[in-house]
Amino acid sequence: MPERRQRVQLSRDYDEMSARGADRFMAELRQKPGLLMCAATGSSPLGFYRELARRREAAPDLFARMRVIKLDEWGPLPADEPASCEAYIRREIIEPLRITPDRYLTFAGDAADPVAECARFAETIAQHGPIDFCVLGIGANGHLGLNEPADSLSETVHVAELAEASQQHGMLAGARVQPQYGMTMGMGDILRSRALLLLVSGASKREPMRTFMRGGVTTAFPGSFLWLHGNLTVICDNDAWPE
Ligand code: GLP
Repeated sequence: MPERRQRVQLSRDYDEMSARGADRFMAELRQKPGLLMCAATGSSPLGFYRELARRREAAPDLFARMRVIKLDEWGPLPADEPASCEAYIRREIIEPLRITPDRYLTFAGDAADPVAECARFAETIAQHGPIDFCVLGIGANGHLGLNEPADSLSETVHVAELAEASQQHGMLAGARVQPQYGMTMGMGDILRSRALLLLVSGASKREPMRTFMRGGVTTAFPGSFLWLHGNLTVICDNDAWPE
């Protein structure tokens, strides 16, 4: 049985959280330069991705083989919609880290048949996975990716009904197309990752962090499923830390 490692670290601020997250990632990248990184979007990991871009400047060769896979998307947002996860990932990860097209695995948010697109993406994961390093943020309602609180959670890639709170997400401010549903990896895809990194930042995450720290596993708070994983790093900044 591999050693069980669950670490919750408190960081002074957002920058320290991002830098520590990058340290954690770099340790994995050195071990496995061709690793597959799953990328959440949103504000929590933005500083982390920017820190990776800085570290790439110092050691470009180290980043020459890593691969990236998209975690989730707002449907039916097209790739050229700046509010889409696709646009975010291309802008913040693919371009700065010079990830070539063959090293980026994604799916279309505006596919005419989103269910079929999810099935195709599940195949992609089966073929190229599992994820080595999964970067996550947590929603204000405890969602992971777009796995929303519900009576039951889906195991693999699926079309998700968006919670009210998710439709108000900051990424969507100014979006030309309003999301009608989500497309997301399932809890099984996330939990099959070899290592998980959850970044939690800001006062709006204090309540979700409190719920998370209470422990226990419930579909009413999908983030709680992370406690089932044996290689979990949670880095929380001071503003999000529940006193
Ligand atoms: C959205 C994104 C997720 C992200 C979550 C938290 O649902 N699709 O990938 O993890 O929001 O976002 P934030 O870090 O901005 O709070």
